[in-house]
Amino acid sequence: MKTNTILTGDRPTGKLHIGHYLGSLKNRVKLQDEGKYKMFIMIADMQALTDNARDPEKVRNSLIQVALDYLSVGIDPAKTNILVQSQIPALNELTMYYLDLVSVSRLERNPTVKSEIKQKSFGQSIPAGFLTYPVSQTADITAFKADTVPVGDDQEPMMEQAREIVRTFNNTYNVDTLVEPEGYFPPKGQGRLPGIDGNAKMSKSLGNCIYLSDPADVVTKKVMSMYTDPDHIHVEDPGKIEGNTVFTYLDAFGTDKEKIAELKEQYQAGGLGDVKVKRYLNDVLQEILEPIRNRRAEYEKDIPGVYDILKKGSDNANIVANQTLSEVRKAIGVNYFD
Ligand code: TRP
Repeated sequence: MKTNTILTGDRPTGKLHIGHYLGSLKNRVKLQDEGKYKMFIMIADMQALTDNARDPEKVRNSLIQVALDYLSVGIDPAKTNILVQSQIPALNELTMYYLDLVSVSRLERNPTVKSEIKQKSFGQSIPAGFLTYPVSQTADITAFKADTVPVGDDQEPMMEQAREIVRTFNNTYNVDTLVEPEGYFPPKGQGRLPGIDGNAKMSKSLGNCIYLSDPADVVTKKVMSMYTDPDHIHVEDPGKIEGNTVFTYLDAFGTDKEKIAELKEQYQAGGLGDVKVKRYLNDVLQEILEPIRNRRAEYEKDIPGVYDILKKGSDNANIVANQTLSEVRKAIGVNYFD
């Protein structure tokens, strides 16, 4: 069933960085402005709590930061519902029904959850909510009958899980209530931005991020400290492009492809210093980040107004999610008092 509805979201566990911008935010703004989709963007605070239950302050603070990140990149509350997961009670009831259609061993096989569990070193005490968050995420998606879910490559197993649950639900109760969602992934090779230290992943825990909210001078400092080619010691030495983070970023963010090709050629031949390339990258990034920073500053002046945007988005979301919930209750037959 085509619904032309988008749902996507982020866990509020910190501020968003330029990797998020490249891998998803930019694309969301584009989809929003195409005007073809009904758009829901969720701040998944309950999912964030699945491994931060003892640090709710972090989730609470990150929620407003993520909201500011969205608004500052151009997510427009007039076109997109920005909603808060915990404020949509229907999601929890949907999750309960879906949990009965999934086996524990299926949940334990989810490769993304598996690697996250390893990484987070829960030891023997994996929170049950963490193991089951893909089911809750299925509730997020299906509550809005989203058919399109723009996410990073690491979310492929979640999409598979969601499709399975949808099929199982519709088959078991012999209905077509739930819509099978499709992941909408970034083009190959464009999904992941390395950290400024050259690590394959930009991530808060690695401390190698450029944040959307970083002031201009911080961005410059980070760019000037970026990992390049460790064997490129003297300006006249020939340098390597592959694995050179500065060039990876230029490819990702630069628009003047001719100039970038020229710089690459010069760098490989020798005679082009890192500092020069970094200064150019800094200009490229500042041009993208400045309007984002300015918009953020405007919204920061009125934080209650930002919460109001979240409330309105959540109110709209509740109407849709409650409608789906009532259809789901009816499908199962737990609509005793209708
Ligand atoms: N798990 C997603 C992530 O870590 C965040 C998320 C929560 C999400 N609910 C969602 C993404 C629903 C898409 C749809 O990035």
